Amino acid sequence: MTSTNSHEDTSAASSPEPHTTCELVDRRYGTEFAGPLAEGTETIDLQLRHRSVRKFLPAEVTDAQLELIIAAAQSGSQSSNLQVWSVVAVRDQARKERISKALGGHPYIENCSVFLVWTADFNRNSRIVEAKHGTDVDSVGYLENTLVSFVDSGIAGQNALLAAESLGLGGVFVGSVRNNPLEVATELKLPEYVFPVVGLAIGVPDPTERASTKPRLPQRAVLHHEEYDAEAWESASAEYEEHLAEYYADYGRENYSWAFTLNRRIGSVEGMHGRHRIREWLAAQGFDSE
Ligand SMILES: Cc1cc2nc3c(=O)[nH]c(=O)nc-3n(C[C@H](O)[C@H](O)[C@H](O)COP(=O)(O)O)c2cc1C
Repeated sequence: MTSTNSHEDTSAASSPEPHTTCELVDRRYGTEFAGPLAEGTETIDLQLRHRSVRKFLPAEVTDAQLELIIAAAQSGSQSSNLQVWSVVAVRDQARKERISKALGGHPYIENCSVFLVWTADFNRNSRIVEAKHGTDVDSVGYLENTLVSFVDSGIAGQNALLAAESLGLGGVFVGSVRNNPLEVATELKLPEYVFPVVGLAIGVPDPTERASTKPRLPQRAVLHHEEYDAEAWESASAEYEEHLAEYYADYGRENYSWAFTLNRRIGSVEGMHGRHRIREWLAAQGFDSE
């Protein structure tokens, strides 16, 4: 099914909430999109509407919804069809609170309906190989396999979040599970060869949350044709600073700087919140990452 991508839809233009694909694309970039756009679809509109949800109503994500979300997650592509991820669904309030505390305290973990912990999982496949072929697995420890399991977990997680959003739910990824992955592993009883990659807090969005669709970099910064343009970021990032600062100003946060945020996150090892020790933590779960 397609949806209109016309800039001329005046009824939508008078509304603060974008309705057409074109308006959704404009909002995604925080400015009118210059290039030609193909006809939109409901799927693309849903993707364009994405925002992280960190404030939830005290309402349940049902087991039936969860099972549909996981079916969507499992429908994602899988490297060599290895299916090297598992997900632990945490609903127990005390357990959510313990996990939150271990990660430094996050209300969105405590208040979500279900906290999904996506794990890289070579345990299942290793045991199958050992049981069926009687051989020890040799290659799990290589970095390539660590990357495979992390990439596939991310693909599955994004499919899950999009599925949840299509059901009227919302959520936020929680990379902080890697701030303290061994405590998360203990809490969830993760065996050898299973490592927490990312959390996903899901619930019914609280409409009072003050957030909207966060603008992204101008497309020319990320889309290169034929060859990588190493200068493309310069004017694009300057423009982006303005769009993102406007977005945050709308929510009362003045003088926001993306470059400042980048510096805080990648400018020094402190910005990694302890995750510079990830090789050691991976090894503790069997991922030697050689
Ligand atoms: C892998 C991953 C980990 C993330 N971890 C966190 C997190 O620990 N805490 C948080 O509040 N948001 C987290 N986020 C959400 C991002 O901050 C968010 O996606 C980004 O700021 C863009 O905003 P949007 O999702 O609303 O468009 C994470 C996102 C991803 C993809």
